[in-house]
Amino acid sequence: MTPGVQPLIAGNWKMHGTLAEARALAGAVAAGAKAGAGAGLLVAPPFPFLPAVAAALAGSQVALGAQDCHAAPKGAHTGDVAAAMLREVGATHVILGHSERRAAHGETDAVVQAKAAAAMAAGLIPIVCVGESEAQRLAGEAEAVVRGQLAGSLPPGFAAAGGIIAYEPVWAIGTGRTPTEADIAAIHAALRAVAGPATRLLYGGSVKPGNAKEILALPNVDGALVGGASLVAADFLAIAAAVRPGG
Ligand code: 13P
Repeated sequence: MTPGVQPLIAGNWKMHGTLAEARALAGAVAAGAKAGAGAGLLVAPPFPFLPAVAAALAGSQVALGAQDCHAAPKGAHTGDVAAAMLREVGATHVILGHSERRAAHGETDAVVQAKAAAAMAAGLIPIVCVGESEAQRLAGEAEAVVRGQLAGSLPPGFAAAGGIIAYEPVWAIGTGRTPTEADIAAIHAALRAVAGPATRLLYGGSVKPGNAKEILALPNVDGALVGGASLVAADFLAIAAAVRPGG
């Protein structure tokens, strides 16, 4: 944790669930979110479920995020979604540059940077993801890779706009494997040096109720970006409860 920075536990639902399940999950998270608890909460459902999840979260402490946006404000971009559209249906945040999009959709740092700028222009808070592959980690390049991604992916004004950074080692996503606490702390210290004192730095990659307390207690870890465990309300809330009160 970082003194003075409110932690955030964000759930990335990826491409999972039905509309009914999304409503139920959002409702359960909203019901379980404790006012005045240590951590802020956010859920990021698939695009079609955003309005229903916004309705399920209404009046709660839980924020709404999307999983991507286009860099352009509008135009001939079949299948894409503009940041202002997300804002209009109640999103306040958008996850950008997730490694699954970098890998499957060829998103470069420059693309991510343009998307983050578009999100900020529309009044959304970008959550920009960075993280090394297993080969890069084994080659001792993790920190250099992450520094390079940050340098290329963050637009000017990112910190001032409340932009959030998520460190997600690619090899830790959905695998049940996590870096050592020392390795997470080392990368987050490097992120902090770039991001400035007030930027929230999330860790993501196989965060579960069983490891959340240790990870969230590390210096410069200001929360988590949770995949699989965010699909089970009790697990997601247990991760949030692992945040040490008062930071
Ligand atoms: P898991 O928590 O399932 O490893 O996913 C992490 C992630 O990719 C969140 O964006």
